Order: sequence, then C-alpha cells, then structure tokens
Amino acid sequence: MTLKLNTGYADSFVTANDMSAIMPEVEAAFKTLHEGTGMGNYSLGWLDLPVNYDKAEFEAIKKAAEKIRSTSDILIVIGIGGSYLGARAVIEFIKSANFNSRRNGAPEIYFAGNSISSSYLAQLVELCEGRDFSVNVISKSGETTEPAVAFKIFRQMLEKKYGKEGAKEHIFATTDKTKGRLKELSDKNGYQTFVVPDDVGGRYSVLTAVGLLPIAVAGIDIDALMKGAADARVKYLDPDVANNDCCKYAAMRNVMYRKGKKIELAVSYEPAFAMMGEWFKQLFGESEGKNGKGLFPASAIFSTDLHSLGQYVQQGERHIFETVVFINEPLADIEISADPENADGLNFLAGKTVSFINRKAFEATAIAHEDGGVPSIVLELEREDEYSLGWLIYFFEKACAVSGYILGINPFNQPGVEDYKKNMYALLGKPGHEGRREAIERRLK
Ligand code: PA5
Repeated sequence: MTLKLNTGYADSFVTANDMSAIMPEVEAAFKTLHEGTGMGNYSLGWLDLPVNYDKAEFEAIKKAAEKIRSTSDILIVIGIGGSYLGARAVIEFIKSANFNSRRNGAPEIYFAGNSISSSYLAQLVELCEGRDFSVNVISKSGETTEPAVAFKIFRQMLEKKYGKEGAKEHIFATTDKTKGRLKELSDKNGYQTFVVPDDVGGRYSVLTAVGLLPIAVAGIDIDALMKGAADARVKYLDPDVANNDCCKYAAMRNVMYRKGKKIELAVSYEPAFAMMGEWFKQLFGESEGKNGKGLFPASAIFSTDLHSLGQYVQQGERHIFETVVFINEPLADIEISADPENADGLNFLAGKTVSFINRKAFEATAIAHEDGGVPSIVLELEREDEYSLGWLIYFFEKACAVSGYILGINPFNQPGVEDYKKNMYALLGKPGHEGRREAIERRLK
C-alpha cells in the first residue's frame, strides 16, 4: 500500500464514538465536494487534474525542460506561495535538500521572488554572473509584487547578456491563459508560456505547469508523479467515508480541533521533507485559516527538532497534535559496524541500520508524545519516490478540501492575503491606493 493511515497513536484521544459522531458531517462534506455545490466550487479543477490535464501542454513542458537542461547552468524559478512551494518541495523531497550539489546533469535550481530581500536577490544575481541561465517566472495573477520585482531584475540581466531576441529563448512564463500583466508582457515579448488553469488555485497547482516545469528540469519523472496522484484519486473516490483514509484523516483532525488541539504539527523523520512541510503549511493554513477558525499548521523534522521543539511538545501547552509522515523505505541505508574495543559504546547498535534506528526514534517519540498528551496521526508512505509523492500530494489536497467543508469555510479563497498587499501598495505609492496611504502613514511607528 502506497500510503497507510495508522491511527494507533491517536486512539486514546480520538475515540470510535468521536469518529461515528463526526461521520455524517464528513459524508456531507465529501458529497458537497464531489457535487461541486460548496463554497469555492469554481476552484475544483485539481480534483480530476491527475487524469484530466492538457496532454499537449504536458509534452511541451517536457520539451521546455530539456531545452533548459541543455542551454542553462542555472534555472531561476520566480514565484511566491503556491507559485513556488510545490516545485521546491517535490525537488527537495525526491532529489534531496542538497539538490544543487548533487544534481546529475541538471542545472542548479534557485528560487527567487518569494521574498523582497535585497541581500538574497543580490546573491542570486551574483551567482548567475558569467553563467548561462534561464528563468521560469510563475504567477497566476501576473500581478504579485515579489515575483514581479525579481522578474524585472533577471529579465534585464538576460536581455543584457543575450540581447532582447536571445533572452526570449531563456524566459518561460507560467500564468493565466488570457489575462494579467505577465501574460501581456509575455505575449508582447514572445516568451513561451504555460497555463495555470482557471479552476486550480495556487496552493493546489503543483501538478500543473506551475510545479511540473521546474520539477522536470530537475530530472524528476513527472509521469510517475501524475500516476501516483491519479491512483490516489481513484482510491479516495470511495464514498464509504468511514473507510476512506483521506476522509478519515480529515475527520480526525477536525475531532482534534474540536477537543482543543489548535496546532497541527506536520512531522517527518526525513530532512528531505522540510519543504513539503512548508507546502503543507500553505495548503492548510491558507485554506482553513478564516472566519476566526482553523488549525494552525506547523512543521518539524524529527529527530532534529526534538532537540529544539521537543521539550515544548512533550511538556508545554497541550494544544498540539502531530501528523507524522513516516517513509518506510529510505532511498539508501547504512549499516552500523562493530568496534572490537567498543570505544564509542555503540556496539549495541552493531549490525543495525541507520533507518532502523530512525524508525525506533519515531516509535519512541510517538509513545512519549502520546503519554504527554500529544497524539499522532501517522501516515506511512511506502517510498521516497515520484509515484508515492504524487499520491501523498493528492491525499493532502483532498483531505484539506474535505476538512475545510467540515469546518464550514471556503477552502479555496484567501481574502486575508490582500490586506498587507493593499497597505504595501499604499506605502509604495502604487496608483489607485492613494486613499489608504495617509491613514497608513500616520500609524507608522
Ligand atoms: O495559493 C495561492 O493562491 C497563493 O499562495 C498564490 O499562489 C500566491 O499569492 C502567488 O500568487 P500569484 O501566483 O498570483 O502570483
């Protein structure tokens, strides 16, 4: 089984009665989602995306990826939020967080436009100097400030290096199919464009060109990624929600929330999962955190963070539960050897593998945390490969949508993100935001 839901470390907290009580709401949420009658029903394209995607564009993505791989030492992926997290998470999970030092023939891949740090941007500019590079700029709206600023800088750099005509061969834009400033600019300058489908929101877009182009450039098998998601889609179509693990997970996290667990800590014992943790936080945080409601999503890598957050999790405020993604088969393993003198005192581990020790760390921690009042929902992922990851991505996307409907919010909008943007536009003097400017400036401390 690609993904196994293990509820054993949460049973003492989420009882069979709790589950039976919430099931009618889960059934209603599942039905609402599949009938397309709920809030945000204009954004359900991700539901069938693993089978219902633009096959011609998929092939064009592979071709563009090959072109970038053969012409560039570096790919700069420009985007923020849903327009970069999925790609970065998949690349690091499949190829390691150290991708740029072990990339097997692929260009180095760096991410820009996800902050407005001048130091960070200047360092990337310096990295590109004297080297061949390409840019994949990604913005569904085509208007977001952070990527727009970064794109301006790298576009000018490319034009200076290759000339306006030559730069066209190094710029790939992923955006709305008809509207937005990035689309206009791309059409005007003749950049190759890829589409963010109208009915797929940013945080659900990793399996569109948004994620797939950078992922393919990294040398990752995007067919296998889609196949994993497609098989998960079939698996979690089961309307018997009490036996549908995706719905069960959605139910459990809502039971946790109602019983006072306000924080969901997504945990993995693989450092390569760190960016998947970031992706998870965006998916659930932006989907559920509205109308004064929602679990606060956090993430951690264990055992690393047991030496930073571990004390709090074990004995701090009891408002946390964990969702542990444990990978059963690691990419590689190492056996611990015996030392005749046992100088390091580690002979009790001789003959055991590092992955065995990691599993024992997980089991020991799950029991300690359960004893300390922190239950764990465990998702055992079979392998660290494309197929399994595609499956996991679909699992979380669907669980998030079902959870959101159980919670009674629209899991597909993000109205709160606009507030800081409007203030920033006002402070920067963007036309159309003059009214707000004076009021904001008076409040600057
Ligand atoms: O999930 C979302 O919709 C957001 O995180 C967006 O992806 C993010 O704000 C970037 O928006 P855009 O792609 O329009 O630049």
